[in-house]
Amino acid sequence: MKVSSPLILGLLLLTGLLAQLTSARPTKSATFQDVEATEESPLIIAMELLHDNERVMKKALKGDGDFAQALVAVVGMQAGAQAAKLLTPPMAETVDAAKRPEFLKGFRLQMIAMSQDLLSLERLLLEGKLEESRAMFQKVRDHEGAGHERYAE
Ligand code: HEM
Repeated sequence: MKVSSPLILGLLLLTGLLAQLTSARPTKSATFQDVEATEESPLIIAMELLHDNERVMKKALKGDGDFAQALVAVVGMQAGAQAAKLLTPPMAETVDAAKRPEFLKGFRLQMIAMSQDLLSLERLLLEGKLEESRAMFQKVRDHEGAGHERYAE
C-alpha cells in the first residue's frame, strides 16, 4: 500500500485500533484492517472506511437500534472524514490552477460540515435518541451526495 503521509497512516491505524478497543462486543464494524490490503490511494481508503462504517450504521439504526454498534461505526466514519479532508481529490488536477485553492478549501469545508454532523450523531447516539439519530444520519448522507456531485469524477 502506498501511503504518502505518516499522519494519514497513523490516523487510519489509530482508527482501526480505536474501533476495536471501543467495541462493546465482537463487532462487524469495518476497521482499517479490513481495507488495509488494497493498493488504493489514501483518499479511496478513507472513503472505503466511511462507506463500510456507513453500512454498519444503516443496519444499526434499524428496528430498536443497536447503539453499541452504531457508536463504533460513527467513530469509524469520523476518522474516515478526518483522514479524507487532508487529501486532494484527483479532480483538483482538472481545475484551473488559479481556482484550485478555492476548490480545495470547498472540499475541506464540506468534510468539516460532515464531521460536525457526525459528532452530533455521536452525541445523539450516546443520549439514546434513535429518531433524532436517524435524521442526523440522513444529514450525513446528504453530505455524501453533495460532496460527490461537486468533488468526485
Ligand atoms: C458518508 C459519506 C461518504 C461516503 C460513504 C463516501 C463513499 C465514497 C466511495 C465508496 C467512493 C468510491 C471509492 C472507490 O472508488 O473505491 C468515494 C469517492 C470519493 N468521495 Fe466519497 N463518500 C462520502 C462523503 C464524501 C464527501 C463529503 C466528499 C467531499 C467533500 C467526498 C468526496 C469523494 C471523492 C473526491 C471521491 C473520489 C476519490 C478518488 O477518485 O480518488 N466523499 N466516496
